[in-house]
Amino acid sequence: MQPPLHVTLLARACLSALLLLQQLSCMTAQPAAAPGGNSSALAADELALLSFKAALSDPAGSLASWNASNRICSTWSGVTCGSGRVVALRLDSLGLVGPVSPFVANLSFLTTLDLGNNRLVGHIPPQLGRLSRLQLLNISANSLDGDIPSALGMCTGLATLVLSSNRLHGGIPDEVGALKNLVYLNLESNRLSGQIPASVGNLSSIQELRLANNTLSGAIPPSLGQLPNLSSFILYYNNLSGPIPETLWNISSLTRLNVFEMISPGRYLQTCSIESLVSVASS
Ligand SMILES: *[C@@H]1O[C@H](CO)[C@@H](O)[C@H](O)[C@H]1NC(C)=O
Ligand SMILES: *[C@@H]1O[C@H](CO)[C@@H](O)[C@H](O)[C@H]1NC(C)=O
Ligand SMILES: *[C@@H]1O[C@H](CO)[C@@H](O)[C@H](O)[C@H]1NC(C)=O
Ligand SMILES: *[C@@H]1O[C@H](CO)[C@@H](O)[C@H](O)[C@H]1NC(C)=O
Ligand SMILES: *[C@@H]1O[C@H](CO)[C@@H](O)[C@H](O)[C@H]1NC(C)=O
Ligand SMILES: *[C@@H]1O[C@H](CO)[C@@H](O)[C@H](O)[C@H]1NC(C)=O
Ligand SMILES: *[C@@H]1O[C@H](CO)[C@@H](O)[C@H](O)[C@H]1NC(C)=O
Ligand SMILES: *[C@@H]1O[C@H](CO)[C@@H](O)[C@H](O)[C@H]1NC(C)=O
Ligand SMILES: *[C@@H]1O[C@H](CO)[C@@H](O)[C@H](O)[C@H]1NC(C)=O
Repeated sequence: MQPPLHVTLLARACLSALLLLQQLSCMTAQPAAAPGGNSSALAADELALLSFKAALSDPAGSLASWNASNRICSTWSGVTCGSGRVVALRLDSLGLVGPVSPFVANLSFLTTLDLGNNRLVGHIPPQLGRLSRLQLLNISANSLDGDIPSALGMCTGLATLVLSSNRLHGGIPDEVGALKNLVYLNLESNRLSGQIPASVGNLSSIQELRLANNTLSGAIPPSLGQLPNLSSFILYYNNLSGPIPETLWNISSLTRLNVFEMISPGRYLQTCSIESLVSVASS
């Protein structure tokens, strides 16, 4: 399928602009449900949840309902069960402070883990890689540091992965490319460095890829041109170099590409934005 003509023209305009500018450093910019209930299995989930809670401080008392005299599945706030096992933990914006206990990875039927917008610190536990049924992981807007564990590449059920607005550093692990069901990946506003791995071109379901506001360097891998459904690729505020690979213009679904270049510390030149055409602006 051909891209719409205007997108093609804008793409060419962007490409020409980038070819002129390429000497500059580019900074721009199904899981199955559990079979019938099993009280000893649910007791294991309870132990995992209580261990998760014990590692945190909960100044707002958001997890006060998590006590042994209450039934997990009907009264523990933020906990959802399915077929007698814990399948979702939605604990965003509860003011939780402290580390993410690796015990959360014992919730083996978990499909949703949303811990966004709390005050979580420490590392992302690599044990999360055991959560093979996980479809959504959101730990956005916390203060986590350390690397993105390569073990997350084993969570092959993931459709949504949001680790944005933390203090994560190190590179984007190659193993991320194994997440074949991933539709939305957001790693924005961390301190990630190194190159965008070529394996990102293996995220065959991806629609929105947000890597902006890190210190990623090197060239954009041409393998990204293989992504059939990529519609939004947001890269501004990085330390990338080289032109946008021509392969990207072959993605007919791509309607939003946002790349800026840093022309001096704190000043950005928007060199390419398909949605708003090439404009030259600094901020
Ligand atoms: C219940 O869960 C436990 C722990 O996961 C497991 O060892 C046991 O086989 C399960 N029993 C049934 C009847 O599924
Ligand atoms: C358990 O939680 C309930 C609220 O859901 C609360 O009324 C009760 O006091 C709690 N029990 C203990 C021992 O904390
Ligand atoms: C639960 O997780 C912890 C930490 O990852 C681990 O040490 C423990 O063995 C696990 N327990 C079970 C029952 O799987
Ligand atoms: C992830 O969590 C953040 C913070 O709670 C929220 O703003 C954002 O909408 C969530 N994103 C997704 C895709 O769930
Ligand atoms: C970039 O990330 C920093 C934190 O690393 C944040 O304070 C800042 O608001 C972000 N800027 C943009 C434009 O997203
Ligand atoms: C992409 O996946 C293919 C197989 O699906 C594999 O052979 C190749 O090594 C992967 N590429 C990268 C860069 O990981
Ligand atoms: C791409 O999107 C189309 C239409 O939504 C869908 O049918 C197809 O399965 C998607 N391809 C992949 C690899 O996700
Ligand atoms: C940006 O990349 C250049 C090499 O291309 C490197 O010398 C420089 O240190 C990088 N800056 C940051 C902030 O990572
Ligand atoms: C774009 O697609 C056309 C037709 O499939 C192909 O001939 C061309 O080589 C592709 N260009 C790039 C840069 O991948």
